[in-house]
Amino acid sequence: MSSKDKLRKFRENETFSCLYQPATEEVLNVPYRLKGKWGKEVFKNDNPIILELGCGKGEYTIALSEKFPDKNFIGIDIKGARLWKGAKYAEQNNLKNVLFIRTRIEFINSLFAENEISEIWITFPDPQLKRARKRLTGTMFLERYKKFLKPDGIINLKTDSKYLHNYTLALAQQNHLTINEANNDIYGSGRADEILSIKTFYEAHYIKRGLEITYLSFMTDNTTPLTEPVWDEEYWETEEAKGRENTPANKG
Ligand SMILES: C[S@@+](CC[C@H](N)C(=O)[O-])C[C@H]1O[C@@H](n2cnc3c(N)ncnc32)[C@H](O)[C@@H]1O
Repeated sequence: MSSKDKLRKFRENETFSCLYQPATEEVLNVPYRLKGKWGKEVFKNDNPIILELGCGKGEYTIALSEKFPDKNFIGIDIKGARLWKGAKYAEQNNLKNVLFIRTRIEFINSLFAENEISEIWITFPDPQLKRARKRLTGTMFLERYKKFLKPDGIINLKTDSKYLHNYTLALAQQNHLTINEANNDIYGSGRADEILSIKTFYEAHYIKRGLEITYLSFMTDNTTPLTEPVWDEEYWETEEAKGRENTPANKG
């Protein structure tokens, strides 16, 4: 994407009513003005709110919103030129149950209040092989999600990374979280139904490369502080690092 293209998208983003772009000072250590109020003030209903974290172009957010008009969906990403795609579609198709927020997920507790969120999708996040603290399914981030997820709230992880899948599964097991489902090849096993076969931009790329796509569904239903899993990290790091040389360039 040329920088001219990016600038055009950034300008158009300013005009989208479904896209929120809080300034850092609106979310850094202060509650955002809509924290706890997204249902009442923005969606104008009490329907469940579902998040997609690191949503990129927003494929899951958009597809789920069209399948479930009685639920609300919020896609979050830091990259404006990617969000533009989902936001543009939502505007053009007048989707009332979708919005996007351009922010860092690190600020998420400034955005959502206790019990405000029913479910989270994390789609093809960077597995952060070297930095557990940066993993969107690591204990640092899960502790943040626990603060706003309903007690029966579900976290869905879809990834091509066997490393991230197994790490997250080990974390859930070690912390006695409820695991609803763990599948290490959703297409090969025939598990990919109309929800799990929604394909994101990155997923399409990984499928083309012949990688298996995994799915994990679990709950953060243990209120005691979470601990990082004890598992054979080095083995997985090495195995996966070998296979991760040709991931899509982190452009746009
Ligand atoms: C590998 S891409 C996947 C995008 C999309 N879910 C897909 O499957 O096509 C990871 C996305 O997460 C976003 N991301 C990573 N860390 C983030 C953070 N801390 N805050 C906000 N977005 C983040 C990136 O900008 C990127 O769009």
